[in-house]
Amino acid sequence: MLDDSLKQILRTPGLILWLTGAGVSAESGIPTFRGKEGYWQVGSRNYQPEEMATWAAFQEMPDEVWAWYLYRRGVCRGAEPNVAHRALAKAEERGGDRFLLVTQNVDGLHLRAGNTLDRTYQIHGNIDFMRCSNECLPAPVPMPQGIDVAWEKGRPVTDCELQALRCPSCGAPARPHVLWFDESYDEANFRFESAIDAAKQATLLIVVGTTGATSLPMHIGTITVQRGIPMLVVNPEPNPFSALVARTRSGAFLQGTAGQWVPQLVATLPGR
Ligand code: APR
Repeated sequence: MLDDSLKQILRTPGLILWLTGAGVSAESGIPTFRGKEGYWQVGSRNYQPEEMATWAAFQEMPDEVWAWYLYRRGVCRGAEPNVAHRALAKAEERGGDRFLLVTQNVDGLHLRAGNTLDRTYQIHGNIDFMRCSNECLPAPVPMPQGIDVAWEKGRPVTDCELQALRCPSCGAPARPHVLWFDESYDEANFRFESAIDAAKQATLLIVVGTTGATSLPMHIGTITVQRGIPMLVVNPEPNPFSALVARTRSGAFLQGTAGQWVPQLVATLPGR
């Protein structure tokens, strides 16, 4: 049950900005980024995501980087949206333009649950899409039909599949539509300015399931603190966002899982 102070915060008029990380998909069975299952084996060597998810690695071993993404894409496509994803779709349905969602997740589960692309800023991309490595396309394109969706861990990409993973316009190698650690945010691919604007307009920020390990999410958090608007943080353990809450005039750290808290929060939100 939510206490009265929390209900009061949720009755805040204006734009409610949700910020999600891998934790919102944990209960769908998708490993979190910094969880223990995050590594990837190439030959006898284990690579951390921070090494694989880079333009440098793609240039050095494009087939290995593709195999890793195609495996992760299979895991994402094999997962189902959970109660938290479904609650956020309901929050948008009820809230309309009072709702905005910034997600770091590339698994596409928010969209599959029913959130719309207009109000869902996928600031790290989407694993079901690819871009031209020469950046000649105006927007990311869906992965080609001929590529297996269920991809067993360790299966190499065949030459024929690599041929299909090319830009449909100029024929250059295509690359996953995901923000890599040695790349920068931008508006066209990752809605960077839009996410910052949302943080400047919001009257309430609700953060679910993220360590805040990347710059834009933490920037959103610090804008919230500087503007003095309330922040709610849902996470099983304390994280940098729960530390930020301690610096806000009103807010709360709701210790627990997305499945425990998000449906309750959404059920308490006023409509449009
Ligand atoms: N419900 C809510 N939160 C959970 C749950 C759950 N069931 N299970 C785990 N968490 C929390 C963890 O406590 C942790 O705070 O989810 C968070 C997952 O953190 P990370 O694995 O660091 O994922 P995330 O914060 O989304 O990473 C951010 O960093 O590596 C880059 O681009 C990558 O999008 C990723 C970004």
